[in-house]
Amino acid sequence: EVYNDYFFNESAYDYHDGGYVPLEVHEAPASPLNIPTILQPDKETENEVWMTVHAQPGETQILPGAKTKTWGYNQSLLGQTIVFHSGKTYHVTLKNSLPELTTFHWHGLDVPGPFIDGGCHAPVYPGESKEITFTVNQEASTTWLHAHPCPLTGWDVWHGLAAMAYVKDDHEASLPLPRNYGVDDIPVVLQDRRFHEDNQWDYDGDYDPDGTAGPTAMLNGTVNPTFDVTTQKLRLRFLDGSNRREWRLHLSDDLVMTQIAGDGGLLPEPVKMTKLMITCAERAEVILDFKDYKAGDKVTLYSDDCPILTFNIKEFAADDTELPAQLNEINYPEPNKDDLVHQVVLSGTDEEVGINGKKFGMMRIDDRQELGKSEYWDITNTNDCCGGMLHPYHMHGGSFQIVSRNGEAPYPNEMGLKDTVSVNPGETVRIKMRFNFEGVFMYHCHIIEHEDGGMMAQMQVYTQENPYKKYDLMPMHVL
Ligand code: C2O
Ligand code: CU
Ligand code: CU
Repeated sequence: EVYNDYFFNESAYDYHDGGYVPLEVHEAPASPLNIPTILQPDKETENEVWMTVHAQPGETQILPGAKTKTWGYNQSLLGQTIVFHSGKTYHVTLKNSLPELTTFHWHGLDVPGPFIDGGCHAPVYPGESKEITFTVNQEASTTWLHAHPCPLTGWDVWHGLAAMAYVKDDHEASLPLPRNYGVDDIPVVLQDRRFHEDNQWDYDGDYDPDGTAGPTAMLNGTVNPTFDVTTQKLRLRFLDGSNRREWRLHLSDDLVMTQIAGDGGLLPEPVKMTKLMITCAERAEVILDFKDYKAGDKVTLYSDDCPILTFNIKEFAADDTELPAQLNEINYPEPNKDDLVHQVVLSGTDEEVGINGKKFGMMRIDDRQELGKSEYWDITNTNDCCGGMLHPYHMHGGSFQIVSRNGEAPYPNEMGLKDTVSVNPGETVRIKMRFNFEGVFMYHCHIIEHEDGGMMAQMQVYTQENPYKKYDLMPMHVL
């Protein structure tokens, strides 16, 4: 079966918003898709790795003419790709050379909160470094790193503070999947920007409380990217790294995308589709098979009707490997039926956004859950103004499994582990969530201006031994 559907409620797509900024093809010439280099460790033993992640200001040649002032991790824009191996321990030096405080949030990594998780309670001040240590123990997946200072996440990410962080494991390595980085396994960070005079960005000028957007698609920091296809099969790891934009992806000739993984790892089974919507912070790994093309052909990736990436087909060797019918087995623990169901009500638009009628309070704990227990969370989007809008709901502290949407089965491509789920207006999405580490963790809408605007809350994961452990929570960051 090939799905031909974005699944979500069309009336809530971002293009129905009054402030919607449609994508337009920029006049800049085509250039090769930037493939970030892989971050090299400072030092490595069999089970331990030391590395440095350096948030730095810089200038990047994105368009012809003036360079754009940008921020990045270990490079001037976005970041080097970080590769973790499940089972190893990482000592990461977080270095901040920016003119203001930032934080280093591991979106999708299962690590303790709030200081290692790197949400808003874990600032690194300008000119400072700090070392964190954690062990990666989770499924192979495409996670990411981004800044998360409250309420300036939108500003930081817009300037470029976002990087891919892959987790590898033995199970994924045993499957016949493309994994030659930069050749047949490529990261695709989907973002949009508006370029102003001298090719500069103006976050404050373009700011929209319902999500800042620009008309120019920028993939891995490249405008009008092309990619040379030299293998029959290509694995694309999409990350919606936009502040606001939903990407409705489809290919010329309606070429089928076979989704193999979502946020938290491989799907139970591959899902074939001609349309894929990805909302803020979600990841989707898809395989494209170019068997019906030959050298010289072109295949175009679109979002809505705007071309965003051109694949130039080169000579390739025939590849008849078949995807296994089963990629993964998800055994998420069942919650106890008598336990309370956590409630998260996402409401409002613009400045009125909140969760359960409240704006985020950095010193307030809004919910609690015991370490290691799986519990239900009901996420409801009451937003119905003007057709309403989708809120991509994200939890720190691990991955969840989607149980149902308004009591119905989840979409076929969301059967794997997730950490972000988009919720339609009027819908309640039930998830099962288990935390594997103690700490204080945030949960929020990942339209970044909604998160900065207060559609965010936080919870404490506790143990019986110390149920009210105190954390040194920061008040709102003031610059
Ligand atoms: Cu991408 Cu609070 O996270
Ligand atoms: Cu996160
Ligand atoms: Cu939202």
